[in-house]
Amino acid sequence: MTAAVTARAHTNIALVKYWGKADTDLIIPQTDSLSLTLDQFYTDTQVQFDAALDHDVVVVNGQVLTDQASRKVRHVLDIVRDLAGITTYATVTSTNHVPMAAGLASSASAFAALAGAASRAAGLRLTPRDLSRLARRGSGSATRSVYGGFVEWHAGHDDASSYAKPLMEDVDWPIAMVALVLDPRQKKVSSRQGMQTSVTTSPYYPAWREIVQQDLTAIRPAILAHDFTTTGEILETNAMRMHALTLSANPPFSYFNGDSLAAMQTVRELRDAGHACYYTLDAGPNVKIFCETTELPAITQRLSDQFGTDRVLVAHPGPGIQWLD
Ligand code: DP6
Repeated sequence: MTAAVTARAHTNIALVKYWGKADTDLIIPQTDSLSLTLDQFYTDTQVQFDAALDHDVVVVNGQVLTDQASRKVRHVLDIVRDLAGITTYATVTSTNHVPMAAGLASSASAFAALAGAASRAAGLRLTPRDLSRLARRGSGSATRSVYGGFVEWHAGHDDASSYAKPLMEDVDWPIAMVALVLDPRQKKVSSRQGMQTSVTTSPYYPAWREIVQQDLTAIRPAILAHDFTTTGEILETNAMRMHALTLSANPPFSYFNGDSLAAMQTVRELRDAGHACYYTLDAGPNVKIFCETTELPAITQRLSDQFGTDRVLVAHPGPGIQWLD
């Protein structure tokens, strides 16, 4: 039995989204993307390789996963075993520290923590770049959760060239991301399925690829200069253009529900009233609001009045992967 290793990784929210793969097996994206790692929502994962096991055992939040549910986890373990030259099975025990569970549960923190714990438990000492490549094999967005702060995922063109790099790891900028949990249930269309339908059927997909390049070129200097307005305008339009791909797919679909639309309207009203803030949504109905910390009282008050205090969670920039003793 090898020593048990535990890693902690935080989730991230994309400001310029990853929405589509060029290679679905290796998870090579169609475009670069850029995110902010958050401090509030994280996953702790312990991995131990054990010669006495005759299959991998995966436990998430106290529940043993079925073979079907643990498929992606076992895929990452297989890659680690290949890299380390071992054949031993492992026990994986993972806990998501995400309030209101599924609403914000993220494969990003889960697969980054798994990559960190499994590689070390197998005796590997991967560089951050190689760790981000390994995390990518579990879930694309996990590539970026290896680092803290603002992070870019360079699409690359093969396994070796597709990895994340920090843009600004220590964020000395008083910003926050307010998460509004509107529906904690699991989404009906997974991001994996939704993005592939968008790539293959939306006539706007070629335009999206161009928009992402333009947005990245404009948002990088805005972030480095702490230009809140430019950063906010880009992240909001980028998110809406990603969601336009779902509406323009065949068959069309949407991650929004009625509350998402109401929340977006509220953000626009807050903005009109002088409280600078911008929204973004991932593959689900929950709305995340980017603001400067000075605006937090006004924004959280308004959202709490409308949706309920327990639905409003405040996050700040968070750290990269950590190993726990
Ligand atoms: C909307 O990383 O969950 O959050 O690579 O298929 O596991 P897979 O997809 P996933 O997709 C994330 C999509 C997104 C945008 C983003 O995080 O960039």
